[in-house]
Amino acid sequence: MPDLAYVNGEIMPIEKAVVPIEDRGYQFGDGVYEFVASYQGRPFMLEEHLDRLERSMRELAFDPISRADIGKAVLDLFNLSGYPRAGLYIQISRGVAPRNHAFTPGMTPQIIMTIRPVKEIPAEKRKNGATAITVKDTRWGRCDIKTVQLLSNSLAKQQSLDAGSDDAIFVSDQGVVREGTSSNLFIVSGGRLITHPLTDNILPGITRMVVLNLCKAADLNVEESFFGIDALLGAEEVFLTGTVTELLPVVRIDNKTIGRGDVGPIARRLYDLLRKQAMAGGRTI
Ligand code: PDD
Repeated sequence: MPDLAYVNGEIMPIEKAVVPIEDRGYQFGDGVYEFVASYQGRPFMLEEHLDRLERSMRELAFDPISRADIGKAVLDLFNLSGYPRAGLYIQISRGVAPRNHAFTPGMTPQIIMTIRPVKEIPAEKRKNGATAITVKDTRWGRCDIKTVQLLSNSLAKQQSLDAGSDDAIFVSDQGVVREGTSSNLFIVSGGRLITHPLTDNILPGITRMVVLNLCKAADLNVEESFFGIDALLGAEEVFLTGTVTELLPVVRIDNKTIGRGDVGPIARRLYDLLRKQAMAGGRTI
């Protein structure tokens, strides 16, 4: 099977898929998205991804769409692609209309999806950990909504690669450590796990939620609270979580070694638990 696309109900090879030039997603970034991955052909945490997609649409006052239709299209694509580990991108824009900043209610949301094999994190990074730089968070004030406006994320990621690093970590003007360019962030400090609370300034990551539940089930001490750069750089362990990232230790940040500079025991344990849950296809622990 070739990599596939879905455009408003029709499935086709990816290179055949096009969108109208007056799609508001294209002209205004007026669109939301999700990225869902499968393990052994089964999408992981699909209902949670669809919940978040619906929430993103509600927050932006998009006209509603049928969840059942979206769910069916998603499963059709995973099945048709035949990839055991596929990454499915879903994007929904408010609709197509002559360019005008304001929008009128009643527009028909435009739905597109693509499916490809997941581009995995290299084995070497999993074994030895990744590196990161910290950057000022220049994103808008509603990072809890998964919109396609990813320019700050994209520039920060490129900046980190240009600096010979793997990713960038957003830090607020007040010095609060928020999240990665496409992942959430946890630190281990004094044996306790800490991650940024759910506010308008971070994405409510599905993997973050799974990892929080795994921590609780494993009796690990975990809290959602704010912390600064000193806590980040002085942590025993730091790791990122996300659908593609899964759980990735960060062993060097801004050229400072984190902990012992290798993959720590808590990250290793949680990664194994996460993989186990994902491979079992289980939604809850
Ligand atoms: N990104 N924070 C940001 C800013 C993200 O873009 C993502 C995911 C996450 C992790 O969320 P989740 O665990 O639900 O994947 C956190 C996706 C993968 C992307 O942009 O493709």
